[in-house]
Amino acid sequence: MTRINRNYLKLPGSYLFSEIGKRVNAYAAANPDKKIIRLGIGDVTQPLPSSVIDTMHEAVDEMAHKETFKGYAPDLGYDFLRNSITEYDYKKRGCNISADEIFVSDGAKCDSGNIQEIFDADNRIAVCDPVYPVYVDSNVMAGRAGDYIEEKGCFSDVIYMPCTEETGFAPTLPKEVPDIIYLCFPNNPTGATITRSELQKWVDYANDKGSVIIYDAAYEAYIRQDDVPHSIYECDGADTCAIELHSFSKNAGFTGVRLGYTTIPKKLVRDGVSLHSLWARRHSTKYNGAPYIVQKGGSAIYTEKGQSEVRALVDYYMENAAYILDGLKKAGYSVSGGVNAPYIWLKTPEGMTSWDFFDHLLKEVNVVGTPGSGFGPHGEGYFRLTAFGSHENTREAVDRIVNFSYNL
Ligand SMILES: Cc1ncc(COP(=O)(O)O)c(C=O)c1O
Repeated sequence: MTRINRNYLKLPGSYLFSEIGKRVNAYAAANPDKKIIRLGIGDVTQPLPSSVIDTMHEAVDEMAHKETFKGYAPDLGYDFLRNSITEYDYKKRGCNISADEIFVSDGAKCDSGNIQEIFDADNRIAVCDPVYPVYVDSNVMAGRAGDYIEEKGCFSDVIYMPCTEETGFAPTLPKEVPDIIYLCFPNNPTGATITRSELQKWVDYANDKGSVIIYDAAYEAYIRQDDVPHSIYECDGADTCAIELHSFSKNAGFTGVRLGYTTIPKKLVRDGVSLHSLWARRHSTKYNGAPYIVQKGGSAIYTEKGQSEVRALVDYYMENAAYILDGLKKAGYSVSGGVNAPYIWLKTPEGMTSWDFFDHLLKEVNVVGTPGSGFGPHGEGYFRLTAFGSHENTREAVDRIVNFSYNL
């Protein structure tokens, strides 16, 4: 008889956003007259930059003629896109990454979930706590996380690195040495960042211990402060210990279009094997490339016009972040993030769990956020709001929260 991958059964409850969806839908069905404002899921709301749209239109037209028609894309991505990525995301920042170290994909979610496949099941992983749930869940599915400990809300074989108010929501080097370290800065959900010199310590640690860092830079476009690195390859020696994940979702609005890339330097070798060669093998076996039209659209952000449109898009969301941060601070909430990131991380009022506060905001002011406990045990007692709404909705949501909090 067929047996299933029983590791899946170890995953607690439903995926965080499915549970949120269920509660919001139930409330909306029972209260059809209420205007619910969603500042929960990290999805963008503003249209694609016009340079992207124009370039995609041209690419669609190319598909209409046999002289310019394109079939399967090259496994690792079109050169025009990989060259532009190298130029703008790396060379301009002084990072020595070449185009053939870049693997174009359909987004950072797939890559962040799939990258663990090239590592042995016995590796110990370390994650920031709280963090984007995909890192832990994908390792649970692969049988690398041990058992779920219900009362602690964590897995027995995962090294959780608490990111708390005391540590500025940054992790500290773990005592127990991990084989694979997931870092995500600017962080989802806390919006925290670390400086270049702090990140250098992680790179030195990984090189010293022989660990690999998987660095998720999905939110790098939101960085405003000079001492916060956009790429881990700004640190010396990162090319011998780090893999980096990028997304076109949050900078250019590609959440529904789908595009991302993963960088693996050729110098990164573990167990005597180049990780670049393993991922190339995996990519060419299991993936047939992001669509030509989408890669063309993505390449448009690496032009002068595209760069200024992306900046404007990010500025739009950061205006929301400032409004949320300011409004909640004035109302007496303890808040962080929102400076180099589109996420605002707030402490729930005394005596309320993350889900209590979720239900409270949904029912009392019809605003949807994300319970911090969904991102790891140290997220309990916190709540995430995103800056990805429209100006109008964001202002209305914040004003509702601020006005209501006097009755808490
Ligand atoms: C930290 C992090 N990485 C990756 C992703 C997924 O990005 P993509 O849309 O490129 O799959 C998200 C999405 O919310 C994220 O928060």
